[in-house]
Amino acid sequence: MDANAQNKLLPEVENFLSNGPLRAMIGGQQVESSNGNTFETHDPGSGEKLAEIFNMQTEDVNHAVDTATETFKGSGWAKLPQNERSVHMHRLADAVEKHKAVFDQLESLDCGKVLVQAEMDIQNFIDTMRYYGDLALHVQRRTVLPAKGHEAFTVRLPWGPCGFIIPWNFPFLLAGWGIGPAMAAGNTCVIKPAEDSPLSTLYLAHIARDAGIPDGVINVIPGLGEVTGAALAGNPNLKRMSFTGSPEIGREIASKCGANLVPIKCELGGKGAAVVCDDVDIPDTAQKLVEAITFHTGQVCCDATRWLIQKNIYDSFVSECVDRMQKIHIGYQLDESTQMGPVVNQKQKERVLGYLERGVKEGAELVLEGGKAEVPSRNGHYVKPALLAGSLDNVAACEEIFGPVAYLAPYETDEQAIEMTNNTDYGLGNSVWSSNLERAHGVAEQMVAGNSWINGHNLVVHGVPYAGIGKSGMGGGVLSIETLLDYWRPLTVLRPL
Ligand code: NAI
Ligand code: MG
Repeated sequence: MDANAQNKLLPEVENFLSNGPLRAMIGGQQVESSNGNTFETHDPGSGEKLAEIFNMQTEDVNHAVDTATETFKGSGWAKLPQNERSVHMHRLADAVEKHKAVFDQLESLDCGKVLVQAEMDIQNFIDTMRYYGDLALHVQRRTVLPAKGHEAFTVRLPWGPCGFIIPWNFPFLLAGWGIGPAMAAGNTCVIKPAEDSPLSTLYLAHIARDAGIPDGVINVIPGLGEVTGAALAGNPNLKRMSFTGSPEIGREIASKCGANLVPIKCELGGKGAAVVCDDVDIPDTAQKLVEAITFHTGQVCCDATRWLIQKNIYDSFVSECVDRMQKIHIGYQLDESTQMGPVVNQKQKERVLGYLERGVKEGAELVLEGGKAEVPSRNGHYVKPALLAGSLDNVAACEEIFGPVAYLAPYETDEQAIEMTNNTDYGLGNSVWSSNLERAHGVAEQMVAGNSWINGHNLVVHGVPYAGIGKSGMGGGVLSIETLLDYWRPLTVLRPL
């Protein structure tokens, strides 16, 4: 591990990392892969190995799903009175809170996230456990129906073992969005974390027992997508599947689930637009959009990556943005002065640089050059923020880059801006920026996506459904009651009188 990083690590973090190869957690037991196969996770800011981890094989994955099934049937978790299960959700939140500094460092180290942003993600997980624990108490699970000549009612019951395949960009936050509603509803979980960032979820598996969660409710099976992920996606005994990641893999997993008739929820990529009207406070809006595109180095699925700017303020707005982006301090994720850390791996760095090159080749203007960034004495995967401009047919304007790169285009009328926003297969999050709220609402409600934000971007709040449509996903509604309801199966009971 990088010597500079090591100086700053908590003893618990060092201990955890030095106990490799790290094992899966199945039914409360630490388990090695059946064939002994392992993989490594790295520090994106230094390129150095953090830990070796067992790569779970198909039979190991099947064992995890079988264990989750037995736990569902036999542990009493599914049948606990809701108030008792909700107490466990709070205890899990408390346990993560108690070890929060450890989670913060593991998350920052493993996926290259700036420490303050990792702190926000871990807090979000805690809030999610508490939110769903509380919400589940207030859902009426038995509904009496007026039926002629019959006693009739519906009841909501947990499904059984549920699968979760998680990406590397928000590893712990998204694990929470997945298992929070599933567990609160009484299901059991099998989590496949991303190979680039499995550490925080593996640590969760270690502390779950302290929180009183029965063994086998949270099972964590680390491994590669094409091995462990593929086996989980194809397991016919799962009752529900949840996937967050790229549309390509989403399609593949959804096909497998389709063949097994396992219901799946997909949260995929995005190509969000920000419509900047000519009545905005230019410095304030520029600042907020620059913060959005550099947040987690642009590796955010709902980011604003197409900035549509009204023509009469285009030049002054763009120059404000360029000025701010040039001043962003790029550095190692655990350094306090760092505003933007590395991207997750070499492949992602090449992807970002490749899109800049292809965009320019197709005729885009390079408004802010971007490219590779150097951080003294760190051999990590650093890139500079970049701005491209030109035709919206350009590859860099159409495809998800997943880096600190925004594509700029001017517009004249609001109708034009709406058309440009909606001219994409993606449909996750767009924003409109205006000091005239009536105008902003008019634009926001015509945007075709799961989320329209006004005078803000990347806004996620517990209690408000967050979802994508089209190439951005299906079956969403996370962070709200909609997802909780998904994790109960409806049963109708009918008796002739
Ligand atoms: P990915 O979609 O390959 O990985 C996401 C998860 O799926 C990981 O846990 C991975 O192990 C698993 N996986 C991979 N192949 C699998 C398979 N055949 N069967 C089952 N599970 C599998 O994403 P990747 O390659 O890490 O990133 C590629 C691009 O995807 C990014 O550059 C970005 O554009 C997009 N992406 C979008 C995310 C989002 O939040 N919407 C998150 C991560 C990536
Ligand atoms: Mg890593």
